Amino acid sequence: MNILGIETSCDETACAVVRDGFEVLSNVVYTQIPLHRPYGGVVPEIASRAHIEKISEVAETAIREANCAIDAIAVTYGAGLSPALIVGLNYAKGLALSLGVPLICVNHIEAHLHTPFLVDSPAEGPLPPPPAPALGLAISGGHTNWIDMPEYGRYEIIGQTLDDAAGEAFDKASKLLGLGYPGGPKVDKIAARYAAAKGLDPNGADWTKSLIAFPKGRPRDGVAALSGLSASLCVSFSGLKTSLLRYVQQHPEVTLPASGAEMLPESPVDGVTMEMARVVASYQEAIVQSVAERTRTALSRRGYKALVLGGGVSLNSRIRTVLSVAAKRAGVPLLMAKPKYCGDNGAMIAGLAYFKRTITGDEAMKIDVHPSLEAGD
Ligand code: KG4
Ligand code: ZN
Repeated sequence: MNILGIETSCDETACAVVRDGFEVLSNVVYTQIPLHRPYGGVVPEIASRAHIEKISEVAETAIREANCAIDAIAVTYGAGLSPALIVGLNYAKGLALSLGVPLICVNHIEAHLHTPFLVDSPAEGPLPPPPAPALGLAISGGHTNWIDMPEYGRYEIIGQTLDDAAGEAFDKASKLLGLGYPGGPKVDKIAARYAAAKGLDPNGADWTKSLIAFPKGRPRDGVAALSGLSASLCVSFSGLKTSLLRYVQQHPEVTLPASGAEMLPESPVDGVTMEMARVVASYQEAIVQSVAERTRTALSRRGYKALVLGGGVSLNSRIRTVLSVAAKRAGVPLLMAKPKYCGDNGAMIAGLAYFKRTITGDEAMKIDVHPSLEAGD
């Protein structure tokens, strides 16, 4: 069964054709990042207009490159930005009607957790059914969720952020420090360059000693925002962001370096001093360690068969290393997507739709967008 997946929840206009849930036949992503960069974040109205302009071309290219008959259309109906989601959902409804094929509505966060199973050629697969029970970790610009997956296609949130998502925490810090948008990839590279320039092994004790101890975002037990979840499986990144702000206010040399300050060699961004790089590496480490700590706790709670990682932040090189150690210690494989499937894409939507067709038929044709949809809803 060949499914066309359509994704317009945020700042990527993306369409892909996937055969039988795993094999990606085409994958087209038009990224709007340059349009949003001047504003330091995604502007919903600009996103919506750009989706309208690009959606037909992206979908037609995906269908042409896949070079096969399309048996169904899958589309993201949440979570995401309402004006952006509407474009994809309406386009998908129209296309399903005109092609006379079923429409399947897919949850964006759940779809991120399908990305480790996508393959580019039958030689890499077909894969066995995804392992269950598995622990899912969806980390993106909009979400940070620990998700219990008792069987494939069933999701229950067991932990989450109480405020900012991990990607948002990266992006806001980057904006504050003037490093540009999106912040995650810049922070990742600067932290790695800092470790290399100082000759430090990020897995060694000297690394921690060289860094500023930013808070690890542990929420207090019993706070209402936990909504009944265990504090040991939740994080809060807003305090971390405030600590960073306070730190740079108290240390003006970080953002206003004296002439002659030591510069970071081979920096991905101009004008980064060694001290700025240390602040960036410390901030990243606080996010990574808090995510890793909750993941270790979640892994110890149940006999999971795998740790399944998804979302744009799963591209972070330090998170990948630290989580692979955590998974190894827990005796489970860490399943991660190829880098091209970590960010938003249509293949994850088409892939999951093959397994999970709960919203289809008349219900799909009548459904509206659900901007604050959660995994398992
Ligand atoms: O999954 P995604 O493409 O979109 C959402 O569903 O939100 O994730 C985008 C997020 C952004 O916040 C971006 O800064 C972050 O993923 N990101 C990273 C890295 N690459 C992208 N964060 C940390 N390290 C990276 N290497
Ligand atoms: Zn996403």
